[in-house]
Amino acid sequence: MSNVLVNTIAEVRARVAAARRAGRSIGCVPTMGALHAGHGALMERARAECGTVVATIFVNPIQFDVQADYDRYARNLPADLAFCGERGVDMVFAPALEEMYPAPAGTFVDVPETAQYLCGQHRPGHFRGVATVVAKLLHIVQPDFAYFGEKDAQQLAVIERMVEDLNFPVSVVSVPTVREADGLALSSRNERLTAEQRRAAPALYRALQSARQAIADGVRNAETVKGAALPALAAEPLLRVEYFEVVDPRSFHPVAEVAGGVRIATAVWAGSTRLIDNVFCPAEESSARA
Ligand code: PAJ
Repeated sequence: MSNVLVNTIAEVRARVAAARRAGRSIGCVPTMGALHAGHGALMERARAECGTVVATIFVNPIQFDVQADYDRYARNLPADLAFCGERGVDMVFAPALEEMYPAPAGTFVDVPETAQYLCGQHRPGHFRGVATVVAKLLHIVQPDFAYFGEKDAQQLAVIERMVEDLNFPVSVVSVPTVREADGLALSSRNERLTAEQRRAAPALYRALQSARQAIADGVRNAETVKGAALPALAAEPLLRVEYFEVVDPRSFHPVAEVAGGVRIATAVWAGSTRLIDNVFCPAEESSARA
């Protein structure tokens, strides 16, 4: 299946306006390219729910706290276009850097409360860059629905808060994390892992599952939950834990005691590659033995 590649804001607006005049709903899937089945799940969901599906591919410099990470971010537009085509995406908006930032950004969207801990704490400016570019993309595409992965759950929470606080006329749709058979969450960064690091990486999901199990077994103290989970990570000398936290699923503030639904989130370094993952632990599970 073929799709239309659009590079300019003017053209994407014109095409979306035409689709809307034709009575079609608009779904948007923002990405940074290097597409894999995780992105594919978002596209398939959008395809099932919307008349016109627009994927955006833009490696956003202002969300990278480390320049080298931006420089080495995988870029392969031809492969990404074919990928989108296979998933029935109608339009791919892939602007050049100058189209999105003709001058250095002078206006930013900050969501400080949701971005205070975890990735926000360890990657200064990251969520400001994400919220700003997503605000721009939503203004450019003006979709009815925008699709984001639970894989980046804090990002999703930041975007939901921005959309709510600033009254964006869009419904944010969250899509469950797509994993490899051994539990590792799909990520473009997985490509950078050595064979040994790749073998160690499923420990993230194992640790998260141990934490979820501890809560299901009735543990309420967050430190005790962490104590049940961290040995799975400590057993892997190739992994270094940046954070492992039990947080409120909306605010992403760490909780001391589990009461109601929580999200358990972790960031781990394997050499110079940073991996993140998280699981949701619903209120029923956390109150089962309360
Ligand atoms: P990127 O990392 O390309 O991810 C694009 C979308 O795909 C995000 O919503 C992310 O959560 C989702 N995704 C990635 N891996 C996934 C997986 N294994 N399962 C399910 N969904 C997955 O996230 C970004 O780009 C950028 O920050 C962006 C929002 C595009 C702003 O620049």
